[in-house]
Amino acid sequence: MAEFSARDRLRLLAGGSAMFLAGCGGSNPPVNSGSLLGSGDGSGTGTGTGTGTGTGTGTGTNTGGSTSPAALTTGLLRDHYRNNFQIGTALSNQRIAANDLSAQIAADQFGSITPEWELKPEVIQPTPGVFNFSEADRVVDWALANGQTVRGHALVWHESTPDHFLQGSREDIRLRLEDYVSTVVDYFRGRVAVWDVVNEVTSADVYRGSDGVGPDRQEDWFNAVGNADYIDWAFRAARAADPNALLFISEYDTETQLKRDWLIQILRRLSARGVPVDGVGHQFHFFIDTDPAQALAAIDAVDNEFLGLINHATEIDVSFYRDPGTCWQTGTNCLADLGPNAPADMLAQQAQLMRSFFDGMVLRSSVESVSFWGVRDSDSWLNTSPVERFNFPLLFDRDGEPKSAFHAITDPNYVI
Ligand code: G3I
Repeated sequence: MAEFSARDRLRLLAGGSAMFLAGCGGSNPPVNSGSLLGSGDGSGTGTGTGTGTGTGTGTGTNTGGSTSPAALTTGLLRDHYRNNFQIGTALSNQRIAANDLSAQIAADQFGSITPEWELKPEVIQPTPGVFNFSEADRVVDWALANGQTVRGHALVWHESTPDHFLQGSREDIRLRLEDYVSTVVDYFRGRVAVWDVVNEVTSADVYRGSDGVGPDRQEDWFNAVGNADYIDWAFRAARAADPNALLFISEYDTETQLKRDWLIQILRRLSARGVPVDGVGHQFHFFIDTDPAQALAAIDAVDNEFLGLINHATEIDVSFYRDPGTCWQTGTNCLADLGPNAPADMLAQQAQLMRSFFDGMVLRSSVESVSFWGVRDSDSWLNTSPVERFNFPLLFDRDGEPKSAFHAITDPNYVI
């Protein structure tokens, strides 16, 4: 597949391996100029510009004793994996504008940022032909100022997309889509390193088993265009607009065999047509009882057939509820709210799941980025989807304290 060239070019630019690329992509920002959370009296080499005393990366030693974010060594999470892959998170402009704890921890601990909403079609082009980059610029420029890589999410999706994208003939839609993708990718050229070009284009009929209408999601885009050619159009336009950006197809539930098989079928078709795809983004929205081996099998499925494609985990979280299907479809029969205090046994289960998953991911060299979908539990979409209730899916609790899952993936000696 011609997709290797973008990666090769990036490696040439970076002057080395993908690992170096991760560094080159800004996953290791300059020595911390003082952690805004800093209250330790680290001997770091940073010069404090925050209200706290600066704690440098690496040499800072914390005397706080507690595991509060203030006592965290700056960069502990991203640096722990610096020789494996980038560690990222989704973040919204709302959090950045408020400079809340999530934004501070994101700057402190993560090397890659995905704008949670601001790069979606409903924000960039709410009305036909009018582009509005202001919301996205704030998140992108904030991340770049922190020395972080930016993952662009998402150019084509069946959600958060105004109807005008799908009006008119097949040719009208093609021309409009190519103009949109070209304009957006060109505008962020050199600032957005990776694009989720298409998101969730695999059939959602995984729950109908092999009778599903796989491999393609036969809804909005597919029905308006008459087939899945819109995927090809988007990738080709993105490559032409920024030959150095890495282009990804992003999907959820790849840890499910049937959905994974359908994604591979789509990749085969794109490969046969010479469509420029550089990688696969696995969202990995886990449940508390998800088998990490199934997620690792998704990475292996891509590696086994498309060696050279890059794998990213793009939206990791762990829901504490394994609801029946009706809950997601109609909001009925959902499990009862656990309340504001996470059960200790489930926090331990989450920690073990994360440790097993990360232990497997570091063994897979095609994995070059691993992102969470939010910083603190209170940030998560899972507090309102599929129903409103307390959820505890992320690495930091509502007070910004690192949870057992954080320690389980940053300290091999931590006892869960
Ligand atoms: O901030 C605006 C507010 O100013 C405005 O008044 C309000 C009016 O509706 O909208 C607010 O924006 C909301 C935005 O989140 C805030 O971040 C949007 O309504 C809301 O639709 C949007 O939801 C996002 C959702 O995708 C749809 O784009 C979630 O934050 C985001 O977590 C979720 O992320 C998706 C991934 O893109 C794809 N994978 C699944 C994942 C979870 O659904």
